[in-house]
Amino acid sequence: MEKQKLKFPDGFLWGAATSAHQVEGGNKNDWSEWEKANAKRLAEEAPKKHADWQVKKFPEMLTPENYISGAACDYYNRFEEDFDIAKSLSHNAHRFSIEWSRIEPEEGKFDEQEIEHYRKVIKAVLARGMEPFVTIWHWTNPLWLAEKGGPENRKFAFYFARYAKFVVEKLGEDVKFWITLNEPTSVIAAAYSTGYWPPQKKNPIVALKVYKILAKAHNQAYREMKKINSDWKVGFSNILQYIEPNDEHNLLDKLSVKVTNYFSNQKFLNLVGSNQDFLAVQYYFHKKIKFPFKQTNENKTRTDMGWEIYPEGIYHLIKNLQKYNLPIYITENGLADVDDTKRDKFIKDHLKWTHKAISEGVDVRGYFHWSLLDNFEWDKGFWPRFGLVEIDYKTLERKIRPSAREYAKICQENMLKIEAENLDLT
Ligand code: FCB
Repeated sequence: MEKQKLKFPDGFLWGAATSAHQVEGGNKNDWSEWEKANAKRLAEEAPKKHADWQVKKFPEMLTPENYISGAACDYYNRFEEDFDIAKSLSHNAHRFSIEWSRIEPEEGKFDEQEIEHYRKVIKAVLARGMEPFVTIWHWTNPLWLAEKGGPENRKFAFYFARYAKFVVEKLGEDVKFWITLNEPTSVIAAAYSTGYWPPQKKNPIVALKVYKILAKAHNQAYREMKKINSDWKVGFSNILQYIEPNDEHNLLDKLSVKVTNYFSNQKFLNLVGSNQDFLAVQYYFHKKIKFPFKQTNENKTRTDMGWEIYPEGIYHLIKNLQKYNLPIYITENGLADVDDTKRDKFIKDHLKWTHKAISEGVDVRGYFHWSLLDNFEWDKGFWPRFGLVEIDYKTLERKIRPSAREYAKICQENMLKIEAENLDLT
């Protein structure tokens, strides 16, 4: 069958992402303590929270062990092996995060040995010809800070900027791209609006306060970092949802879309303003909304998480970002798919729509699949399998999934080859 060739811009960055708490193992922070205190409850509640097919397919969700990150993927010790795999898959970039609780285990006391560890990690990324994208905060807080209320504490911005400054001063020599905060709105939503993540505070007033504090934390860190080195590219990663009205002629549906769009996609960007050098987009969700806030998605194809697969959404989101006139990196996009039957198509379809935006002038410069490895998916634990690489959690053996090899071809050729019949973008 004839193939269309969709070429990506020269120098396009191709890779995958991870975060410290989800892969490293051996962390002691607010999440690790919450996991131990809540594992039994989460296992008991699993059948209520998941569809029957999920419970059947992933019985491990019924066991407390599933909810304790513990040794995770032991990436802390095996990162070289993991980067060898990424290199063998033709990645030319890698996104990972630094664990705050390792760097500043006690308030104001910074651990040089842990800095040395991350220096080795960065060197190992570079030695394999990959560009490091370093996230400074991917949700976990050191215990001393959690005790003070984490991002609810008005001094959070000060603490975060001080930690960020320490990290970039020590590690900045070889890094160009920094992500201050990962998906602040996810934390606001899950920890403070709906209240199922630590510290489980369901309180809209606190949620609004945390919005401001996290934005201030980013802004303060951004300014201090740019003072140290104005060549660094600094941004925050933003989870963007593609939101549509259930009925495009219904004014109330449209109003609900406006409100949801504002809180999910817009508010944080507004608070950050010009304190960003690129837009880091993370795309997982499409929502069709019927007034007031009822979701009416058809959910034709779903991931193991039950999340709808809707590749077209990425196109609309990044087109809409064109007005900011900033380079765009897709710093996360992926799915839980233990059977690896959907991942290949998922990646290609999202890239196809990304390419369409690029061909219409949107300045997208990179794509990081979530994730390089299967990992610890927060309050869901280990059962969701997001990795290009499968992890056997008993032996910690790594196994490259077939879809990862398909993605590798795209990375290597800087091009997506796709059957003409699959190119329908109307
Ligand atoms: C994103 C998070 C990432 C991972 C994926 C599935 O929202 O940034 O850590 O949990 O979702």
